[in-house]
Parts: sequence; C-alpha cells; structure tokens
Amino acid sequence: MMTTTYTVPKLETFTTDVLDKAFAEVAASFENELSTLKQELKHHGTLSEGASRSKIEPTWKAFRDRWLARTNGVLAQLNDDWLKAAPGQSKREVGSRLNVFKSRVETEVASAKQYADSLALHGLPPVSEIDSNQTANYEYMGSGGIKVSGGAKTSFAPSAPVDITLPGIRKPLGVKHPVLQVLDELIDVFVKMGYSVAEGPEVESDYYNFEALNFPPNHPARDTQDTLFIADQQKKQQRDRLVLRTHTSPVQIRSMEKMRPPVRVICPGKVHRNDAMDATHSPVFHQIEGLCVDTNITFADLKGTLDHAMKAMFGSSVKTAFRPSFFPFTEPSAEVMISCPFCGGKGCRPCKQSGWIELLGSGMVDPNVFNFVDYDPKKYSGFAFGMGVERVAMMKYGVDDIQQFYLGDTRFLSQFG
Ligand code: PHE
Repeated sequence: MMTTTYTVPKLETFTTDVLDKAFAEVAASFENELSTLKQELKHHGTLSEGASRSKIEPTWKAFRDRWLARTNGVLAQLNDDWLKAAPGQSKREVGSRLNVFKSRVETEVASAKQYADSLALHGLPPVSEIDSNQTANYEYMGSGGIKVSGGAKTSFAPSAPVDITLPGIRKPLGVKHPVLQVLDELIDVFVKMGYSVAEGPEVESDYYNFEALNFPPNHPARDTQDTLFIADQQKKQQRDRLVLRTHTSPVQIRSMEKMRPPVRVICPGKVHRNDAMDATHSPVFHQIEGLCVDTNITFADLKGTLDHAMKAMFGSSVKTAFRPSFFPFTEPSAEVMISCPFCGGKGCRPCKQSGWIELLGSGMVDPNVFNFVDYDPKKYSGFAFGMGVERVAMMKYGVDDIQQFYLGDTRFLSQFG
C-alpha cells in the first residue's frame, strides 16, 4: 500500500524562506510517493498476467487521485490552503511556484501512467532473472524516461535512459498470407483424397507449357494465354524456348513422365500472364492443378471429386454445375461453377444476378496428351482441373480486389490471422 504521510500544512506567513521550505517539502513527498508507486508497480509487473493487470490499474489510479483529484487532491489543497490563503502581495509568487510544481506533477503522473500501461502490456521478467543480491534500480528521470541501473545481468536492463513515452516494443506475430492459407487448405482437401503434391519450374519450356498439352505451334488456342517469353531465344527450336509458365498444367506432363498410372497429383504454384492489373487480374498469380489418371476414370469421377472439394472449401450447401468449355489438353472440357457463396444462388452483384460463379477449368485428359507421355489411351483415362487460388480466396473471404493480396497492407492481411 502507498504510504501517504504527507499532509498539506497551513502556512502562517508567506515569506520566500517559508515558501522555499514548504514547496521543497511537498516536492520531496511527491518524489517519495512516486518511487513507492514505482516499486509497487514493478512488483505487480512480475506477477502472473491476471494478477498484475488487476493490481496495476487501481494502484496507479490511487496515486493519480491522491495528487490530482479535483476535490482533496494534494494540488487542489495547495490551491485552497496556500494560493487562496496567500495575502495579495504573495499571491503572484505562490501562484508561479504552484504552477511549476503542478506541471511537474502532471508530467510525472503522465509518465508514470505510461509506465503502468507498458507494465500491464509486457510485464517485467521474473525477479529470479535479475541478480538477487543487487536488484535493478528504476529511477525516474522526469519526462526524460526511466533510468535503469545496477542489478540486472540480463538484457532486460539497458544502461542508457529509456524514453517511456515512446510506444512499447511489441512484435506482432505474422500470419500466413491468405493466398497461401487457401492454397494449403486446397492441398489438404486433395491430400485427404489420396493426392500427392507435385511441383514444376516457373520458367518453363514451350514444350511443357504448350506443345505436350496439345497446343500445336501457332495454334490459336495459344492466344488465350497471354504469354511472357524470355528474350533472345530466336536461335532455339520453338519447343525449347523458355516462357514464364502461363498455367500449372505443364506439371501434369512432368508428373506423367515421372510415374506410371495410377496418378493422383495436385500441383500448386505461381503462374504468369501478360495481363494488365485490375480488380480481377494480376500478371502473377497462383493456380492449383489436379490430375487423376487410372483405368476406368470417368467424367462422374471428375464431377464427384470437384463437388466434394468445393463443398469442403465453401460449405456443404454449395452446389456445383458443369458447363461445356474448351481446353486443348482436355476433351470433353468443362467450366465448373459453384452456386454463389454470397447470395446462396438467389442472385447478387458478385454473381451478376446469375446465382453462379465460374471457378475452375476441367475436363477429361485428351488422348493426344497421353501420347506425349507414352500412356496407352486405350487402357487409361483421367481427368484434370485447374483453378486460380486468388479467385478461390476472393470468393471465400469476399475480397473484391485481387490487388489487395499483393499490397502487403497489414490492415488487410491481419484480418486473416
Ligand atoms: N490450365 C487451364 C488454365 O489455366 C485450366 C485447366 C487445367 C483446364 C486443367 C482444364 C484442366 O486456364
């Protein structure tokens, strides 16, 4: 408990000597009580979190009220008993001394509050971490900060004055980027269905990115993927020229080259397209690709697998629908739509009142693709699908601008913690 020994004396006379002594006394008492407060707060700061929080606040408030309460705070008493009581010719001197003292008290009380707040936030290290024979000494340097000296052998006691008015050092924990969170979630869904993860290079050859996926040289289907080519490769054969991969589908080919059926792989990764940035496009984004090859794989397997995956991602009430589409490496091909996760299919702005959102490309692996990897198309069949991870994340979390994922703005990112 705080020892409140000082009481404001009545002054008989107001000579300079008397005032010197009276103000020196009240200042010394203030200093004393302030250091008692420190000790108490310091002690509370070593307690367990709950205990220290519940004690720091009342301790600090009692101190503030003792000195600054409007009625009966020491300063209010000084005002009544000294200033108001002073005869006319002394008022000026009493007043100016009182002002100096008052601003000192206010500054100290404010910095003590900061100290209390920072203790409540961070606490102090346990006493055992400080040399027990030589306890660290916290000295208030007025508004200049706290000087910590002696005792502590740990890094906790800096030798230079610390400005306690600066914000505390708080290291916020990072969170996994939302795109990676969704990517990992998708991987998880497929791993549980027996898929394994395969990866391939981001700088890919024309052969893997296009040719083996049944995009013949100069075929117009290539134009659907605005490709970024590596410069100065005119001397190379077309199939060896390097591009920044435009999709994760080349990993299908690389996986089939490495293994024989049954194949079940999921291929996550970064892809690049020569697209201008806008709310739904980014020249760099992420895809996740799936490939399943075995005997007797049918379109029903494709539908069941993707329906399950979408329900796992968006909740069991989500429906899927398949609409005919075209990709050179799948035949037949389908666009997969999910019932709008925002309106449940009634129609809203994000789904353009249709109740459906297109989310994936998919299809049965084209027999021509099997020929490129020496799988017998008469014996094996399979399906493949690919989706944009950012797009899935946008649908899942209601993000309306893809650029949010790349700005690094912690106000956005911290919402995914
Ligand atoms: N690679 C296609 C794209 O990026 C998506 C897709 C993957 C389609 C697999 C069908 C099968 O547009």
